[in-house]
Order: sequence, then structure tokens, then C-alpha cells
Amino acid sequence: MPLNEMIFKRKSCRSFTNAPLDAATIETVKAFPLKPLYPEIKVHWDIVPRDKVKCICPWTPPQLITVYSQEAEGYLENIGFLFQQMDLYLHSLGLGVCWLGMGRMNPKTTTEVEGMKFVIMLAFGYPKGDQLRRDLKSFRRKPMDQITDKPDSRLEPARLAPSAVNSQPWYFTHEGDTVHVYCSKKGSRLDSGIALAHLYVANEKSFCFFKTEHRADLPGYTYIGSVTL
Ligand SMILES: Cc1cc2nc3c(=O)[nH]c(=O)nc-3n(C[C@H](O)[C@H](O)[C@H](O)COP(=O)(O)O)c2cc1C
Repeated sequence: MPLNEMIFKRKSCRSFTNAPLDAATIETVKAFPLKPLYPEIKVHWDIVPRDKVKCICPWTPPQLITVYSQEAEGYLENIGFLFQQMDLYLHSLGLGVCWLGMGRMNPKTTTEVEGMKFVIMLAFGYPKGDQLRRDLKSFRRKPMDQITDKPDSRLEPARLAPSAVNSQPWYFTHEGDTVHVYCSKKGSRLDSGIALAHLYVANEKSFCFFKTEHRADLPGYTYIGSVTL
């Protein structure tokens, strides 16, 4: 199934078989091209076995993706943007996936990556049974009027995006053809990058991201950037 259709089907998976992923699938995953929001920010990622991470989840699968970044302005939304494409891709391969904000590297079995900050990990593997959503009713999400200054069906993919503890910290305002993207100061900018990834995947050909001074400041929100779709 194409990635843009996975937006409406994906669901965090917390039930995996204990079978490690086969080497060919790991190579396919490593080769999948991810588009960055900020190409100049260095990112390093790897697929590691479970013993390299410390995670309190009893369901942690045999392998995880670990993500590191250079700490530069925009790095969190860049990571959310990049690896939500990976979340959708892994779902499209029939695998189960879950972002793991609570995961940490195991200092006993890993060494630090020079000049990079560990940001987050994604658990993935063979799911136990079918993990996909069958209909939109099974999404627990804010209604459209709570995430935008005016209803806009083009924002539906962003509305359905996953976020840490389902916080959905994004807010969108409109100005002509441009949509400005904000993140609640209480939320994580990484989540805003995830919502932007859904807008990109749903509008792959036309999606354009930029920063502009010509936008309002919203109290309680951080400006993330602007898009045309
Ligand atoms: C950045 C991020 C971190 C997350 N961390 C965890 C986690 O540590 N443990 C967990 O069980 N789920 C985690 N999740 C999954 C969210 O709880 C889930 O995406 C959200 O509740 C929406 O549900 P859905 O992904 O099934 O649509 C995380 C999601 C994101 C985006």
C-alpha cells in the first residue's frame, strides 16, 4: 500500500513476535530514502538489537531504530519529519512500529556517537496479528476546529498524525495559500515534524516548507515554519 494511504491505517504497535527481522528486510529498510526538513542538520541512525537499549516496555521487539542528531535550530522537527516517513514505510512493509520516547541507550553496551545527541528510538518488527486500523473512527484525535483557525480538509493527514502521549501539540493558521505551523510550548517540536511529514507524504509533489517573518506570533506556541501544499 502506498505511504499516503498508510496515514489513514497506521497504529502504534505494542505486540511483536520474538522473531528478529531477516537480513534482507533490514537492508531494504536501511536503503529507504528519507527527505529531511533541514538537509544541513547532520543525522545519524542505526538499526540495533534490543540489548543495546534500555527500555522498560516488556514488549520491546528484537530490533529498534536509534536516532541521533546534531543539535541545531529545528533539529527536533527535522527528526520527527524524517522518521515519520520511516514509520509509514515500515507500516507499508507490513511491519509493526512504535515511536519510543521512553527508550534510552544502554551505556553498558553502546558507545556515544561523536558530536551527536541521542534523540529518540522507534521499536519495529513483525507484529502479532494485523495491527492496522480499519476505519477513521478508531483514531483518538482532536477535532479539526481545535487544530486550525479554519477548517481545511488538506490538514486531515496532519490531524491524524501520532504524537508523544497523543498530545497533538500542533496548530495551523492560514494566510492566502500559505499554512503557518505552530507547536504548543507544552508540546514537543518533534511531534510537529511528524504532522509535517504527513502533510509531505499526502502532497509529495507540491509540498514546500519555508520560514517567514510575515506571520503572527501565537501566545503559548512556537512557530515551526510554513507550508504550501
Ligand atoms: C515522539 C513519540 C514518542 C512516543 N513514545 C512512546 C512510548 O515511549 N511508549 C509508548 O507506548 N508509545 C509511545 N508513543 C506512541 C503514542 O502514544 C501514540 O503515537 C499516540 O498515542 C497515538 O496513537 P497511534 O500512534 O496508535 O495513532 C510515542 C509517540 C511519539 C510520536
